[in-house]
Amino acid sequence: MTKVTADIYTGLEHRSDGPADRPHPSLQEIYESDKIAPPAHMREESRIDMGNEDIPIERYFSKEYHDKEVEKVWRRTWQWACRLEDIPDVGSHIVYNIVHDSLIVVRTGPGPKDIKAYINACLHRGTMLRKEGGCVKKFRCPFHGFTWALDGTLDHIPEAWDFQHVDWKEFSLPEAKVDTWGGFVFINFDQDCEDLLSYLEILPEHFADYDLENRYKAIHVAKIMPCNWKLSAEAFVEAYHVPYAHPQSLPYYGDSNTQYDTYPGVRHINRMISAQGVPSPAVPDTDPEKTRTLMERDIPFYKSSDPVVEGQSPRERFAEVARKKISAASKRDVSQVSDTVALDLIQYTVFPNFVPYGGLGLSAGYRFRPYGDDPERSIMEIYFLFPKAEDGSHPPAPRTVWLTEDEDWSTVEALGSSAMVIDQDTDNLKRIQKGLRTTRKPGATLASYQESRIRHFHKTLDAYMAAD
Ligand code: FES
Ligand SMILES: [Fe+2]
Repeated sequence: MTKVTADIYTGLEHRSDGPADRPHPSLQEIYESDKIAPPAHMREESRIDMGNEDIPIERYFSKEYHDKEVEKVWRRTWQWACRLEDIPDVGSHIVYNIVHDSLIVVRTGPGPKDIKAYINACLHRGTMLRKEGGCVKKFRCPFHGFTWALDGTLDHIPEAWDFQHVDWKEFSLPEAKVDTWGGFVFINFDQDCEDLLSYLEILPEHFADYDLENRYKAIHVAKIMPCNWKLSAEAFVEAYHVPYAHPQSLPYYGDSNTQYDTYPGVRHINRMISAQGVPSPAVPDTDPEKTRTLMERDIPFYKSSDPVVEGQSPRERFAEVARKKISAASKRDVSQVSDTVALDLIQYTVFPNFVPYGGLGLSAGYRFRPYGDDPERSIMEIYFLFPKAEDGSHPPAPRTVWLTEDEDWSTVEALGSSAMVIDQDTDNLKRIQKGLRTTRKPGATLASYQESRIRHFHKTLDAYMAAD
């Protein structure tokens, strides 16, 4: 039954149903004929009425807005910095750069929480201590050799007789906050920030069955994108663009019946779920055989040598194939996992810039951030997590593959067919950035429902930008 209440956070109306005029079947209607029912949180719909005001476009190119974002967003929010497997040994570290700031995120001991994030600048005259990740016993500045131990304490000053005015206890490397969840290492520059677990709100509960700790990062690709970081992110959190930007997926992807969820009182997290193995509501009479063969062509994971069963829908078949393949790869019995958890695209936003997929079929995600100090360029990253072996072992995390602005995603073979889809989006993003510079219209107009995750993001962004 539909519930209508006021959102405790925004004071706006909250509803537990979808828009009356949306196309059918809705995701919830698709679930009704699934063989294994979804978990409770996926049987629910949740949407907050956030109004329909245009989004001012200066925030996509103004240097002034970008500079304020550095202070109000990048220096105050939890950001995914790396995976635990990126820093496996004591001394292993990565460098996380965000606009002007740079952190060394390092494993300082064998325990799960023995991780520190140091401001990446020498306390002598400011030289960046590390340009990139690696594994070291100490951090030695390349300029004059000041050296710090892994625990951040000052270890050595060359010709210390000349620095009798330095108090060694005061010369430890300054730190940012660090915490972990699901095998992800997060950082926050704000010493007074809320705990990571509280910041993640409903995410840990929704991801409880996805076992991300027992996965390892197998593929990681980064690319310089020709647009503001928010435009990059926004292109990947709605399916409204899919019929026009990616028409190849119409026969097997539930685009316009994607479910979008924004939750009362929840600031940093939102969600969408798109059904796979069903035709788009735009082409409802698609021959099931066409749905099956085209989905297998574009997403070879769903290919199987099992004979096609008479009368079995493509969705039912793909859920079975996915359960079998995931069971084999993860050495876990997932034969009782719901069709949607095995098969569908279940995607969350973690404000400001982390977009992980839930479910067991596609364990992947995106990260978006400015490229250096340029509001019209960004870094977009994609990772894929694979199941670890039964004993927890796994291949070492790969080095990130970096693509320049001119290199296509499809030059990276490991990305498979998803690369072509993201290249289609990248072409559009270049046009959006240019179009926003030429338009005389001061705001972007959003769909009430299908672009509600974008609006939710901007509501939270506005709240951070307005905070003292
Ligand atoms: S700047 Fe680092 S030792 Fe001099
Ligand atoms: Fe897209």
